[in-house]
Amino acid sequence: MCGIVGYIGKKQAAPIILDGLSKLEYRGYDSAGMAIFDGEKINTAKAAGRLKVLENLTHGGETLKGTMGIGHTRWATHGAPSDLNSHPHSNNAGTIVVVHNGIIENYIALKNRMIRRGYEFVSETDTEVLAHLLDYYYRGNPLEAISKVLHRVEGSYALGIMFAEYPDTLFAARKDSPLIVGQNDDGCFIASDVPAILKYTRNVYYIDNEEIVELERDGLRFFSVDEEELTKESVTIEWDADAAEKAGYEHFMLKEMYEQPKTITDTISPRIKNNDIVIEELNMTDEELRAIRKIHIVACGSAYHAGVTAKYVIEGLARIPVEVDVASEFRYRDPIMEEDSMVIVISQSGETADSLAALRDAKAKGFKVLGIVNVVGSSIAREADSVMYTWAGPEIAVATTKAYSAQLVALYMLAMKLAKVRGKLEEEQFTGMLEDLRRLPHQIELLLGHKQKIQQFANRYVAARAIFFIGRGVDYAISLEGSLKLKEISYIHSESYAAGELKHGTISLIEDGTLVVALATQPALFQKTVSNIVEVKARGAFVMAVTNEGKKEIEKAADYAVYIPETNPYFTNSLAIIPLQLFAYYVAVAKGCDVDKPRNLAKSVTVE
Ligand code: AGP
Repeated sequence: MCGIVGYIGKKQAAPIILDGLSKLEYRGYDSAGMAIFDGEKINTAKAAGRLKVLENLTHGGETLKGTMGIGHTRWATHGAPSDLNSHPHSNNAGTIVVVHNGIIENYIALKNRMIRRGYEFVSETDTEVLAHLLDYYYRGNPLEAISKVLHRVEGSYALGIMFAEYPDTLFAARKDSPLIVGQNDDGCFIASDVPAILKYTRNVYYIDNEEIVELERDGLRFFSVDEEELTKESVTIEWDADAAEKAGYEHFMLKEMYEQPKTITDTISPRIKNNDIVIEELNMTDEELRAIRKIHIVACGSAYHAGVTAKYVIEGLARIPVEVDVASEFRYRDPIMEEDSMVIVISQSGETADSLAALRDAKAKGFKVLGIVNVVGSSIAREADSVMYTWAGPEIAVATTKAYSAQLVALYMLAMKLAKVRGKLEEEQFTGMLEDLRRLPHQIELLLGHKQKIQQFANRYVAARAIFFIGRGVDYAISLEGSLKLKEISYIHSESYAAGELKHGTISLIEDGTLVVALATQPALFQKTVSNIVEVKARGAFVMAVTNEGKKEIEKAADYAVYIPETNPYFTNSLAIIPLQLFAYYVAVAKGCDVDKPRNLAKSVTVE
């Protein structure tokens, strides 16, 4: 998504903004720009392409002198990537300049009204209408003008705004798109996300919806959209600066894959006390947990896949019906939701527009929403009735790995808690599962140690035209995630299929040498899946099977076997995903793909 950085203080603004934008590149973008006040006027530089283009255009910021400025990396929504559509956008006089992340949903009506009032538009963007509206309402008081504009726009925004007549004040505002502000001895900052300003300050303020901020060289003031002054508490960011760096790995994705043992430990340990699972943040008594009649899980992408795993685990353990929806469907299918239903929204970023909207829909219908979120203080985290954080730390690679793994274990614990309070789990079974849960981090470490073997195998599939992933039960759920991982970073077409369903059409796509990755970790379904392996083999497929240690018989059917350590059948997704992540990663590396920033993708899809 778009990235915003702003600065006002004692130092030159342009280098700070460029540095901050470079830390936001992972959000995905197609153009970049910035505007700096030079003491008399606002100077702007912007261009389509990578941030490097802007750096070269401004000689590393040298050509834009001044100590107040705003910058932006754009991920196109309205208007193709181009110099003109890049941000910042300004009014016709160039005295009011704005950068924006989000979508102004009523921009066409507003734009037509401004054109009728004689305003000239130069871009195709929704954002430009903000600059002209600010011009229209500005009578010498920026806060008043901003307030009037925000009362008229519909949609989402994180804004950085400068007024040439106010050389000592930078403005920011937020609704639905993430925005933080920070301060140190050299000045004040705005940013879309923590990594952009972590180098300058650890104390940040998360801006809430419909709040406006005035940033001066030595202070911050917060206002509601109705111009009432507010007080806000800052949050201290614990992340080390290098936690957002690569720490010696070639890619953030590989680094984050190797952080999974710690991610899982950090997510489960605080919630296991006296051999019991304690999820205080649920804010629900055992009685309330027992009263839950149905669960709706809503998410997107990999978070949705974690939800599919959770369906099998919660229904298997707690015997509560679970419906899983992709958020963009949940929002518009008018789901039938009975009383005593719990809604769970899963999201790494906590800013995914469809997931956030689904959360609001559910709350508007009177349902309590549990967020399972990675980013502290994100919109979904703040708007959910309760939030169970996945303590995965900053996840920079667009393709999620450690946050997904943390989501899985959070959902296992929730399922175990529900099953236990409902008397579906005997003490001995429960204790055994706790032991299995505790063993996962070490077992993942062991599986990560097989990366060379996986890499050698992966190198053979650089030219593959299509790769299929099949499985039954939770093995089907993990095949969804394995397929997405491969697609999104290697650009090789892939499909995930319930193994028993393949013969109903898609098997016609299997040709000589087609790679089929078969997940067979479920004892009760093992033979069934072996039959499916035989089916695709008969059509010429080459089969990589992922199964449990000791199930050597799989080698009679499959061409290549990967074994995972023994664990509870409900937890095998946490182990099976490791060779699938490594496979996708090494195919993408061998293809020379931009592993951390795959084409067309964004780390957080904050627009519909
Ligand atoms: C995962 O590898 C993808 N980058 C994407 O599917 C992601 O899972 C999805 O956009 C949901 O994001 P969220 O978890 O931040 O809501």
